[in-house]
Amino acid sequence: MKFFIDTANLAQIKEANELGILDGVTTNPTLMAKEGIKGQEAVYNHYRTICEMVNGDISAEVISTDFAGIVEEGKKLAAIHPHIVVKVPMIRDGVKAIKWFTDNGIRTNCTLVFSAGQAILCAKAGAAYVSPFIGRIDDSGWDGVQVVEQIKHIYTIQGFKTLVLAASIRSPNHIIRCAEVGADVCTCPLESILGLLKHPLTDIGLAKFLEDAKKSI
Ligand code: G3P
Repeated sequence: MKFFIDTANLAQIKEANELGILDGVTTNPTLMAKEGIKGQEAVYNHYRTICEMVNGDISAEVISTDFAGIVEEGKKLAAIHPHIVVKVPMIRDGVKAIKWFTDNGIRTNCTLVFSAGQAILCAKAGAAYVSPFIGRIDDSGWDGVQVVEQIKHIYTIQGFKTLVLAASIRSPNHIIRCAEVGADVCTCPLESILGLLKHPLTDIGLAKFLEDAKKSI
């Protein structure tokens, strides 16, 4: 399973990258706004900076909602850097645009996916990635990881090539459960990635080893 970081914060991207386990980055308009990035030029420059920092796929989201606008914007985003994957929402014109991008050699990540039916449409249109939002599915009283499992099962038996990218991750346990059900990618906040490191018995054990090491110095 690949690890992406779900942020537009450069310090966090750098920290995750330095761990040596980072395979890519996903962003969205909310995450860009959180970093105070305003205006198309600033947003595009920010994407370029991220692409130069990380050797992997970087999802950059369109904000148009009509076919012509999505295609126009997606072409501009894809021209920023070869690492860019154009993130397109799961709407009617979005599906149409994903198919257009597929036919024209531009990779896409279909976002705001909450059901297996939506995921089938992404795959049929040729998206490189499908992004089920597991935290938000959980928030609405369903089981997000179960949706990831169902999508992965359908893609496997149907031979779809679209990669399942579990998004809206809220905890280390989400990451572990996504790995169990065969998600191809998990895009996580830095906190959840670092949360995987933690175990009190590791801390207790290390303290004891270091204490005992003093006896043999
Ligand atoms: O990037 C999309 C997704 O990961 C958003 O997560 O926490 O806002 O539901 P969240």
